[in-house]
Amino acid sequence: MNLQGKTALVTGASRGIGKGIAQTLAKAGANIAFTFVSSIEKAKAFEEELQALGIKAKGYQSNAAEFAEAEKLVDEIVKEFGTLDILVNNAGITRDTLMMRMSEQQWDDVLDTNLKSAFAMTKAVMKPMMKAKQGSIINITSVVGITGNAGQANYAASKAGMIGLTKSVAKELGSRNIRCNAIAPGFIETEMTETLNEEVKAEWIKGIPLKRGGKPEDVANCVLFLASDASAYISGQTINVCGGMVM
Ligand SMILES: NC(=O)c1ccc[n+]([C@@H]2O[C@H](COP(=O)([O-])OP(=O)(O)OC[C@H]3O[C@@H](n4cnc5c(N)ncnc54)[C@H](OP(=O)(O)O)[C@@H]3O)[C@@H](O)[C@H]2O)c1
Repeated sequence: MNLQGKTALVTGASRGIGKGIAQTLAKAGANIAFTFVSSIEKAKAFEEELQALGIKAKGYQSNAAEFAEAEKLVDEIVKEFGTLDILVNNAGITRDTLMMRMSEQQWDDVLDTNLKSAFAMTKAVMKPMMKAKQGSIINITSVVGITGNAGQANYAASKAGMIGLTKSVAKELGSRNIRCNAIAPGFIETEMTETLNEEVKAEWIKGIPLKRGGKPEDVANCVLFLASDASAYISGQTINVCGGMVM
């Protein structure tokens, strides 16, 4: 699964799963453009860490929730890197609370950052990918987009929306040799899940056949497969990376 000569854009890669994805794609030889919104120092250090692997890497401060930023970002990346072959829509947030207490703001923030961003980024990369007559788009959704989850109506709706978007994009762009797939992680140990208390974490792990939380690398390895030619005949699919939690 060699990605030498390819350019990958990973959104939200200053930490967590996005960081793991960027590291794995870089080790496979891809040049990496990545985004972050607030972690300026972490992003700078990560840019240098990636460059030390001998590939070209650059971090861009860009808010995924802002529709207009996507096109500007992709234009800058194409100018800097020459191509854009792989897009990983990873940036995401939670604003968990029960429906009864959920505000319009909490709904909009999550839908804009998680779902509208994937729409905006996909629209923006279509042009360079169509010109290159190839591309792989990978959307990081969640198992709760499949199962739903109490206290996460906004998050689950955004992630279910990503699955519908994935299938539609696969149908629209397949004839242009552009593939679009989704990955649905289960419980992955990152800052996003660190906020859960130990009891809740233990309860999650009890329900996982492999009896452990996932690591960013577990998701990243699946991204590598979907980004590479090893998955050349796979499009429109959602792969659960969840230790068997959802079947
Ligand atoms: N962890 C899990 O168990 C799990 C399970 C299923 C799905 N997922 C999904 O996997 C993805 C990554 O999750 P994670 O656990 O790695 O989260 P995380 O540790 O909270 O990291 C989130 C990343 O997204 C960036 N980000 C947040 N808001 C952004 C915005 N508006 N614009 C651009 N970047 C933004 C953050 O950048 P800054 O550092 O600058 O804030 C950070 O790099 C998310 O889509 C999440 O829904 C996670």
